[in-house]
Amino acid sequence: MATPTVLVTGCASGIGNETALAFHDRGWTVYATDSDPDALGDLEELGCETAELDVTDPDHASRVVDRIDDEQGRLDCLINNAGYGQPGPVEEVPTEALEDQLRVNFFGVHRLIRAALPLMRRQGRGRIVNVSSVYGRTFFLGQGAYVGSKWALEGLSNVLRAEVSDHGIDVVLIEPGPVETQFGERALEEKENREETGAYPWFDRLYDEERYGRRFIDRAVGHVQPETVADRILEIATEPDPDARYVIGPWKYQLWAGKLVPTGVRDRLLEQVKRMP
Ligand SMILES: NC(=O)c1ccc[n+]([C@@H]2O[C@H](COP(=O)([O-])OP(=O)(O)OC[C@H]3O[C@@H](n4cnc5c(N)ncnc54)[C@H](OP(=O)(O)O)[C@@H]3O)[C@@H](O)[C@H]2O)c1
Repeated sequence: MATPTVLVTGCASGIGNETALAFHDRGWTVYATDSDPDALGDLEELGCETAELDVTDPDHASRVVDRIDDEQGRLDCLINNAGYGQPGPVEEVPTEALEDQLRVNFFGVHRLIRAALPLMRRQGRGRIVNVSSVYGRTFFLGQGAYVGSKWALEGLSNVLRAEVSDHGIDVVLIEPGPVETQFGERALEEKENREETGAYPWFDRLYDEERYGRRFIDRAVGHVQPETVADRILEIATEPDPDARYVIGPWKYQLWAGKLVPTGVRDRLLEQVKRMP
């Protein structure tokens, strides 16, 4: 039997890199992609196929899917992983920075889905795995742009799941809690895009690397390593009848509790967080 084929975005580091490795170890044909193809050398050496794929580029996604069709004639699984966080109080995030956030975390996913679906429909099966976050269903101070992008991704995925089921295609959301990757470092860089007003002193405290490390980004209590997420994605990719969403890491209990806690109570908790020293 021909080996199954997976396309993964954002493989230069973190969850994407580990996911490409996990699928390769399991014998899949892996197309590991990133906006910076030079960062994929380790995966190429191991035998993964690599390609430049900036999810914001209108042509890259279709070019890579066409190549997979030519070389393999099949695409069993698409993993939309590429993403980053743009921290900042909502007022201080320039609209252009919010647009950039959505261009990668939301429109980029849509672009990959549109590129992959004709091939998946033709073969009458396929699985689309969208890497969301616990922030796809909850929220936190200073994460408005990121939370907005992941809530948008969740909405799109819910509708898509119902629309493509007749074609044998599953759509699955992965919702990790904090994962220790390059995500935090990039977020600390992106926070410099803010237009500071002086009106949100708690933001500088909570996102101060010296004071809290990356405790409110990717090193929060209960954070997991990217290998844990990758192993779970691999299991989910071959699950015969997958769920709509999988929360990964101990934050699943917080999400569950969050559903029971009224919004007003959650808002009061955030007021306490703002007053942290
Ligand atoms: N870490 C967490 O706490 C956490 C929690 C929940 C969900 N997630 C989600 O997990 C996914 C992976 O993040 P991570 O934690 O593994 O962070 P990461 O280590 O920073 O990896 C993100 C990857 O996305 C790539 N990327 C960024 N912009 C891209 C673009 N325009 N086109 C193609 N690739 C692009 C990055 O490549 P370059 O470096 O070359 O730009 C990098 O390889 C993201 O969707 C994130 O939202 C992360």
